[in-house]
Amino acid sequence: MLKVEGLEAAYGRARVLFGIDFEVEAGQLMCVMGRNGVGKTTLLNTVMGVLHPTAGTVSFEGEDVTRLKTHERVRRGMGYVPQGHETFPQLTVAENLQVTLEATGHRDKQAVDEALTAFPRLEPLLKRKAGFLSGGQQQQLAIARALVTRPKMLILDEPTEGIQPSIVLEIEAAIEHLHASGLAILLVEQYLELALRLADRFIILEAGHVVHAGEAEALHDEQVGRLLAV
Ligand SMILES: Nc1ncnc2c1ncn2[C@@H]1O[C@H](COP(=O)(O)OP(=O)(O)OP(=O)(O)O)[C@@H](O)[C@H]1O
Ligand SMILES: [Mg+2]
Repeated sequence: MLKVEGLEAAYGRARVLFGIDFEVEAGQLMCVMGRNGVGKTTLLNTVMGVLHPTAGTVSFEGEDVTRLKTHERVRRGMGYVPQGHETFPQLTVAENLQVTLEATGHRDKQAVDEALTAFPRLEPLLKRKAGFLSGGQQQQLAIARALVTRPKMLILDEPTEGIQPSIVLEIEAAIEHLHASGLAILLVEQYLELALRLADRFIILEAGHVVHAGEAEALHDEQVGRLLAV
């Protein structure tokens, strides 16, 4: 479904990604792991066209999307939730979802209701300004906004980072539910425990290279522990 081949990226002269190869199949949950600063966010931004690669290709459902703009990738079914739970703080929860719906062009009101079913905690908060939500609620809203675009694949950058444990469990349950319903997911996650519970497959990045890849069971390996330890 998503195929990344020989992907390289840089900020000016500082090279950050080196020859990244991986594939996510339909319905699969792929976890991208690795310590702070190894290039996880850079990888997702390059996959989404927020950043342009210096080499390599990104294909989605057999189409080369490497030169497409971010919104064109979203329209093809790549839903993106960037790191740091981005929302429009001055808009209410309902308006945040509505604005996203209007941007998609499909104006299918049902998409909003469906996104809310994934996060029932947001329903009583529909009239509240997003800026007044807790970090965990904002993250739920950020994921709900991506769901409104009716993605075929959801791309999430550390959705549980800095969020209180009880909400982490809710977000985990929502991701698990979306995965069980057949959505493909590319998830950046630093917590091994969570990755072990959710992932089908994983890749581990180190200094911009994929240094380990495999089925989730292999995450138990001692070698993997060493690559993730801080
Ligand atoms: N806008 C930028 N300009 C220059 N360098 C950057 C920029 N963003 C990231 N970098 C550098 O690129 C490298 C990879 O950063 P990136 O944010 O992709 O890492 P990460 O694995 O997502 O880290 P974290 O776990 O902290 O989110 C780091 O060395 C970082 O300092
Ligand atoms: Mg990051």
